[in-house]
Amino acid sequence: MSAPLEIQHHDLLDALNKKTSVSDKIAFLHRVVRQHCAFIHRIGVAVYDQRTDTLKTFAHSTEGENPLGNYQCKLREARALYQIFLDGQPRVVNDIAAMPSAREHTRRLQAFGFRASYTIPTYLDDSLTGFVFFNSRFPDVFDESSLPYFDMIARLISLLVSVELQQVRTLYGALKMATSFSGHKDPETGEHLDRMAHFSRLIANEVAPHYGLSDEFVESIYWFAPMHDVGKIAIPDHIIRKPAKLSTDEFEVMKTHATRGREIINSMLGNFNLDRSGMARMIGNIAEYHHENMDGSGYPCGLRGDDIPIEARIVAVADVFDALTSTRCYKPAWSNEEAFEALRGMAAWKLDRLCVDALCRHAGKVREIQDLFQDSHEPPERD
Ligand code: C2E
Ligand code: SIN
Ligand code: SIN
Ligand code: FE
Ligand code: FE
Repeated sequence: MSAPLEIQHHDLLDALNKKTSVSDKIAFLHRVVRQHCAFIHRIGVAVYDQRTDTLKTFAHSTEGENPLGNYQCKLREARALYQIFLDGQPRVVNDIAAMPSAREHTRRLQAFGFRASYTIPTYLDDSLTGFVFFNSRFPDVFDESSLPYFDMIARLISLLVSVELQQVRTLYGALKMATSFSGHKDPETGEHLDRMAHFSRLIANEVAPHYGLSDEFVESIYWFAPMHDVGKIAIPDHIIRKPAKLSTDEFEVMKTHATRGREIINSMLGNFNLDRSGMARMIGNIAEYHHENMDGSGYPCGLRGDDIPIEARIVAVADVFDALTSTRCYKPAWSNEEAFEALRGMAAWKLDRLCVDALCRHAGKVREIQDLFQDSHEPPERD
């Protein structure tokens, strides 16, 4: 009798089944790729937002220093990439050094010693979702025989990113539905939520180098900032819509929206089996801690300074700014200048100073966001 066959096989890609961040998964895939193709020194992923024509670095795995973090541009202005999009075909550059270095992206790759690149556009349902980049420090490494392998890896990466995005959309849809079933007419407009997302990303991008935030972290803040007030679902309508100052008792009830927000999000994540995903912690932190103050005087926990998660400090600045510059049932809209002035005052005790500076420095971009997402209607009046 022959000895039982000993099976040594183990699933090379097993780590992809673990609930970790997309960045971790890409780092893992990069290691797998390098077992066959040691010359791949970097894998980069950029995601595309059709509505604003924005291309944004999302995740990367780089041997050595990353040449391109927190970078974003309009696809139409990124000429080489725009051409790839128009052609619908991947592109090999076998000597980046010989390319005209018109674009910041190209210049940075050159400066960091990259010589060859393979760029693959990724799609979902025929729409562009972004690009996957394979970069090497050696020239002339890409040839016909190896490209199908990279195409396959790029497809896998784009699926990983799509699953993550789809989970966010599912969650967001569920939260919207919960709001409408709760019987409230949404007191905050959809445009308010869009502005929240964009202000938060603007701030996050600016403070990213100082606080060491990855591209994926910044992008997640952009996704989750609009969910900060889900806990208001649990607050009685007559308090939410009171067209005057809240009494002390009413404000005590209002304050519970922070903890209720974390609870609602936790139960929803549980229902969708997403509770151990990378995103769970961040959404919960944003919902629960966006009213904490730097000096410890905020609610619900009285956290202070660095103990307040950075995602909540970022969203807090965006929230206060948008509340001040919007009409609410209890107050008129302030001008941007008045609001910037007020934020600077709050940097002394309430808000993170760097986050405030980041927003105030970009009055122009703030205005652009406001022009893009103007309230289409006044917030509903009390019935
Ligand atoms: P919100 O309207 O989204 O406001 C978010 C935060 O922006 C507020 O958190 C506050 O820090 C800041 N903010 C908004 N309006 C003003 C203002 O006129 N002056 C100053 N200095 N800061 C302002 P806060 O105070 O914890 O309130 C949380 C939520 O409670 C508010 O969310 C709003 O829904 C509600 N709320 C607060 N005050 C009143 C009120 O007087 N009447 C009514 N009906 N609701 C209120
Ligand atoms: C990347 O290489 O990571 C993306 C850069 C870009 O937006 O062109
Ligand atoms: C570019 O797109 O600007 C050239 C570099 C690259 O293809 O990665
Ligand atoms: Fe709130
Ligand atoms: Fe809000």
